[in-house]
Amino acid sequence: MTFQLLPLEESDVPNMMNLIWEAHNGEERFKVLYTNGRTPEIRAHQIKQILDEWREHPERHKYMKVIDTALPDDDPLGKLVGTSHWDFRAHERTAADLAEQEKKRANPAPPPPGVNVEAGKAVRKSINDAREMLAGSKAHVYLVGLSTRPSYHRKGVGSLHLRWGLGEADRLGLPSYLSATHMGVPLYKKHGFETVAPFKLDPEMFGEDSPLNGECMYRPARPATAT
Ligand SMILES: CC(C)(COP(=O)(O)OP(=O)(O)OC[C@H]1O[C@@H](n2cnc3c(N)ncnc32)[C@H](O)[C@@H]1OP(=O)(O)O)[C@@H](O)C(=O)NCCC(=O)NCCS
Repeated sequence: MTFQLLPLEESDVPNMMNLIWEAHNGEERFKVLYTNGRTPEIRAHQIKQILDEWREHPERHKYMKVIDTALPDDDPLGKLVGTSHWDFRAHERTAADLAEQEKKRANPAPPPPGVNVEAGKAVRKSINDAREMLAGSKAHVYLVGLSTRPSYHRKGVGSLHLRWGLGEADRLGLPSYLSATHMGVPLYKKHGFETVAPFKLDPEMFGEDSPLNGECMYRPARPATAT
């Protein structure tokens, strides 16, 4: 086996963003959000947002990578074959936490040209509402994102991430939640998640069958050895 699961490093973030774009079939999936495609300005803005959020709350945001050590040193994605982003909210949220969150959501950094601002707001609102509905103020683990490089699908890369994240959740005794794309649902079911509700973006803006639609899912904490 040439796969290694490791913590992602800041220097991996640009490659991670390219991998996510590839894994989500970027042009097709994100065309409502980015009217001229993913320009260098949009790419730089996304990388900055990730790094800012990560540096602000390193105790919460955990990024993992799977690399294929057999890939050549000049691999265009730096040998990354899968990445995941987990938000460990280890304590119940206080009124001060909620106020900070409201303030942030009310004042997002202005996006670069080419971003459909209304569509971006609608996506964020759907994701935030789903998370509120699922977890409320409770302590929990939230899988923010999981992507496998398309040429590595169905080789166990996603499962390596899930075993790690759910192992951590069990060690901390926390339930886990996520909003899955339809593509991710079978993998999450295999790892013990159950569907709580559908996840659907505004059909007028994104179409009835947006590839970003899916299911809101939950997995209770388990004794630390089982996944
Ligand atoms: C969803 C995704 C992360 C799965 O990653 P992966 O590395 O291929 O997953 P694994 O190889 O670990 O799959 C493990 C098991 O999950 C199930 N599974 C995974 N992908 C599946 C698919 N497309 N269809 C049916 N079952 C699937 C299978 O049971 C699989 O085991 P098997 O291959 O032995 O049958 C990957 O398809 C992806 O990146 N998709 C695009 C981005 C996306 O939608 N991410 C999810 C966001 S919530």
